[in-house]
Amino acid sequence: MSVNRPVVVYGASGYTGRLIAEALRNYGIPFIAAGRNAERIEEAMKLVPGIETADYEVVEVEHTVEALTELFKSTKVVCNTVGPFHYFGETVVEAAANANIHYLDTTGEIFFMDQAKKKFSEQYKANGKVLAPCTSYMYVPLEIAARVALETPGIDTIEAVCYAAGTPTYGSTQSIFSMFQAADDAFYLKDNQRAIWPKAKGYEVMVPGEAMTQLTHCWGGGSLPLIFESDARVRNCRQLTGFTNRELMEQVIGMQTMYENDLKDLPADVQAAQLKSIGESIQAGMPPRENPLVHRCVDFVKGRGGNNTSSCTVRSFTPYLLTGVVQAATANLLINGHQLDSGFVSACQAVGYQELMGQLQNFGLIEVEVD
Ligand SMILES: NC(=O)c1ccc[n+]([C@@H]2O[C@H](COP(=O)([O-])OP(=O)(O)OC[C@H]3O[C@@H](n4cnc5c(N)ncnc54)[C@H](OP(=O)(O)O)[C@@H]3O)[C@@H](O)[C@H]2O)c1
Repeated sequence: MSVNRPVVVYGASGYTGRLIAEALRNYGIPFIAAGRNAERIEEAMKLVPGIETADYEVVEVEHTVEALTELFKSTKVVCNTVGPFHYFGETVVEAAANANIHYLDTTGEIFFMDQAKKKFSEQYKANGKVLAPCTSYMYVPLEIAARVALETPGIDTIEAVCYAAGTPTYGSTQSIFSMFQAADDAFYLKDNQRAIWPKAKGYEVMVPGEAMTQLTHCWGGGSLPLIFESDARVRNCRQLTGFTNRELMEQVIGMQTMYENDLKDLPADVQAAQLKSIGESIQAGMPPRENPLVHRCVDFVKGRGGNNTSSCTVRSFTPYLLTGVVQAATANLLINGHQLDSGFVSACQAVGYQELMGQLQNFGLIEVEVD
């Protein structure tokens, strides 16, 4: 294996893995396309636009700490897309820590993130490397909006909403279910304390630019309460998520009600099997490439202090494609020495929110409005 390929895309046969490969090619970063099945990865790579000019190799690897550690040793960053992370994430975090490389992933599963922070943050800090989950659409533009809102002195309360247009992939659908299993950990911050969200409950919100109210859900709690828990400026932080497809939102809330009533007390493996088959009935195949005219998103934050307010709205499109860019942009900054922090951090903390904003603007993917 080459020592000159600094990035590993793990889960390269998946929808998001392909988009990370595309973005790495745009940044001119040589990469290893890794996963459990070389044939599926080869097929997936053929579908990546511009792949004929990418420097990459395909590697089949077993999903074990030992095999992944060995693979990671010659590299600098892993971009992990193998979810649900609740089931598969820790193996990869541990391998990246052993191999002394940076870890990025696309999760939004708070239970997994909280555990990874507790177990591995110190090791990553000692290595001088970043452990940065949620380097993906649903979390980075929203954190950029929150950090812009916090530029106003005195803001101590963050109300954040991610409002996305997207067709969930098979992996995303499975991850939505894993958040039901971790619903006792879905928290927001209230007066510097963790408060648990009610289960199976929707919230109507006013999204900038929309005439009708939109249905949202706590979606596992979101990354911002976890990230801002250690920020001395922030006392209160709530994060909600909605999709333009209202029926999908109603379905998710209905399925969580069903989970709470019928599945919750079954053994974990029985639950996992039932959720897997429900997921397959919703999204069995690979969704088509996103369309900028259809897949439009709004992420916004309302900040509040004692007697002042601030707000920031980020408009974007093609959220999975944006995830590919944000992963590649963060990897590019890390391997080229623009690293601001280490240990368990968000991508915004690892390489700077303004820098990530600029990188996404370079691809024409986001527009930022500050009030
Ligand atoms: N928050 C966001 O904005 C955001 C954006 C994008 C993605 N995501 C998350 O990223 C994850 C992946 O999404 P996706 O759209 O790429 O899903 P996907 O198309 O279903 O791909 C999943 C990938 O994981 C691999 N995989 C699954 N189970 C595995 C196992 N047991 N061992 C090894 N590899 C395994 C698959 O390999 P095979 O091909 O061999 O099955 C495939 O490469 C999901 O958790 C999703 O929620 C989040």
